Amino acid sequence: MSTRLGTTITKKIMEEQRQFPGAKGDFSGMLYELVVALKVIAYEVNKAGLMNILGQAGTTNVQGEIQQKLDVFANTTIIHKMDHTGYLCGMASEEVEGIIEIADKHPQGGKYVLLFDPLDGSTNIDVNVSIGTIFSIYKKKSNNPKCAMEDFLQPGSNLLAAGYAVYGSSTMFVYSTGLGVHGFTLDPGVGEFILSHPNIKSPPKGRIYSVNEGNRAYWDDRMKKMVGYFTDEDEATGRPYSSRYIGSLVADFHRNLMLGGIFMYPPDRKSPGGKLRLMYEAIPLAFIAEQAGGGAVNANGERILEIQPESLHQRTPLFIGSKEEVEISKRFLAGG
Ligand code: AHG
Ligand code: MN
Ligand code: MN
Repeated sequence: MSTRLGTTITKKIMEEQRQFPGAKGDFSGMLYELVVALKVIAYEVNKAGLMNILGQAGTTNVQGEIQQKLDVFANTTIIHKMDHTGYLCGMASEEVEGIIEIADKHPQGGKYVLLFDPLDGSTNIDVNVSIGTIFSIYKKKSNNPKCAMEDFLQPGSNLLAAGYAVYGSSTMFVYSTGLGVHGFTLDPGVGEFILSHPNIKSPPKGRIYSVNEGNRAYWDDRMKKMVGYFTDEDEATGRPYSSRYIGSLVADFHRNLMLGGIFMYPPDRKSPGGKLRLMYEAIPLAFIAEQAGGGAVNANGERILEIQPESLHQRTPLFIGSKEEVEISKRFLAGG
């Protein structure tokens, strides 16, 4: 069957809306606007080499990292696409230090907040390796007319929706509103995301481990033992595992979600708190992982979705993937 006869993302979002009695469509409208922003970014990423948009922007972000031109483009696209919809009371981006308020000239009173990593895998942009965008949406908590920090610093267990786009050999959009995980592939001919992977379930046990082993010298013993376990030979438990590491979290995560396995960014001597950001990267992907039957924990074995965030740009160690491998990582993290 031609994918052009398949389920569009609009149809799927509407179907899910009907599962929430009383929903007026604001949430669906917001999600759809976001999807349009992601299509704009996908389009730009695909022709980046032609458009003088590769390379560094000459600026650094809040974390002191060099911004690429596409980081800045993706960030601006999402902000400008979403700020006048009336759905949001504010946004937070990995590339922006504070809360992004909705300017007075735009409709006020939005009930939701949007957090995003506009372009994940920045170091891969210029070399044609998969990159992506990660997002999450919470309901506003405070009674402030504008949004307050507490509206953003919510644990992942409060999430309404999360997902990501991967700009890879094809562009995919994967999201969950808590009713399972659905994957769509962009049909570039008609510019629509078509449901290609309904109700994604990650294999309960995988064969892949993903970690930057160049950091081995900085790891603690727990980590060395854990990776030793994944690389030792044992036929009964299907070891050794295969190693796969792209260096774009979103693409590494997506591959492991589909094939099964574990992605790890542990604490190390260079980054004792880990490298990845709790709010923009770990929480949204943990939500997707759990919805697909997997899990996600920090270096204390605590569930990522239960961590109370303390600041917008907080980092966390991350162990995420199939149920069995996350359990194995918890065992080693506990010292056993
Ligand atoms: P970002 O491009 O949003 O700053 O994120 C980069 C992250 C993540 O995508 C990836 O998993 C990790 O950095 C790779 O880090 P190392 O190069 O240290 O392995
Ligand atoms: Mn990132
Ligand atoms: Mn980024």
